[in-house]
Amino acid sequence: MTKLCEVRDYQALARSRVPRMFYQYADSGSWTESTYRANESDFSNLNFRQRVAVDMSNRSLAKQLAGQHYTMPVALAPIGMLGMQHADGEIHAARAAEKAGVPFTLSTMSITPIEDVAANTQQPFWFQLYVMRDKDFAGDLIDRAKAAGCSALVLTLDLQILGQRHNDLRNGLSAPPQFQLDHIWQVMTRPRWALKMLTAKNKTFGNIVGHAKGVENMTSLVSWTHDQFDPTLNWDDVEWIKDRWGGKLILKGIMDAEDARNAVNTGADVIVVSNHGGRQLDGAPSSIRVLPEIADAVGSRTEIHMDGGVRSGQDVLKAICSGAHGVWLGRSFVYGLGARGEAGVSEVLEIIRKEMDTTMALCGERLIENMGPHNLYNAP
Ligand code: GLV
Repeated sequence: MTKLCEVRDYQALARSRVPRMFYQYADSGSWTESTYRANESDFSNLNFRQRVAVDMSNRSLAKQLAGQHYTMPVALAPIGMLGMQHADGEIHAARAAEKAGVPFTLSTMSITPIEDVAANTQQPFWFQLYVMRDKDFAGDLIDRAKAAGCSALVLTLDLQILGQRHNDLRNGLSAPPQFQLDHIWQVMTRPRWALKMLTAKNKTFGNIVGHAKGVENMTSLVSWTHDQFDPTLNWDDVEWIKDRWGGKLILKGIMDAEDARNAVNTGADVIVVSNHGGRQLDGAPSSIRVLPEIADAVGSRTEIHMDGGVRSGQDVLKAICSGAHGVWLGRSFVYGLGARGEAGVSEVLEIIRKEMDTTMALCGERLIENMGPHNLYNAP
């Protein structure tokens, strides 16, 4: 096996180890995938300002995110079906985050339920909520997250309706699900994955099956999800969710300055500049491109995080210098998980940490808190 030096190496390994339908579920954008690609490639438009002969000893990447202390301003983003990238994937990713001292976010669409992640970790994690038409169910999820000790609620605002991902349709990951002979072939050619999956604690959407009315198995679940994502979601709903939750509220999916102001006025503690990894509105700009505009609009009134296209510690720093307070990893840690389970997520986090630390030093900075626009050249 070639030495695993960077996130791309984990991507290649994950692609060879995870059945194609699940690998592609995570690694696809909607329609032409132009936003998915721009999220990654727009980072290369930014350049660091190199500084020399500065004392670079005693460096620190530590920072507070949503009121808690973490070892670096990096969080694991909510990703659906982590438990299909690797058996018990949510528990492995949450444990790796805990060991690295960064927050983990559990998706509503996880395989492992909230309670099992809580039972297998010490550090409080964040819970991501999708709002469904069944408001009782959404309310129950909020209460379950509270009971499990989650330290923040992440409300995703950009998925009232699903952007079409061609790969999911081709792979039969749609509603209703289409079982294909090809699925058996995909699993047979990934024996390591399949063997581990035999012992997995959960194999369906653990937060939903057995909790939501009318959902008893995977098939009823898929049609339920299709019907249930609430297309009427609006700022009034955000208010009832905020009241019911009562703790730190993170609003995710903000790409517009007016939406950012609305989010702040609704009482968000954190907003996340995100286009859902290019999985929703294809043709939207990259997150790194709109970040400065959002930071100008509301940066003094709220904490701004971002996600989208972050594949290295250098990308994290470019986002920090462009106005982000925290930066979320999505696919980067999913590649680690698919490649090598918990160890893979830990290794990816360590790679990101080292890349951040070295880059910060070469920019002549000792504290991440001090990094800002002065560390970048003006965008060409
Ligand atoms: C869900 O969040 C998805 O993007 O599939």
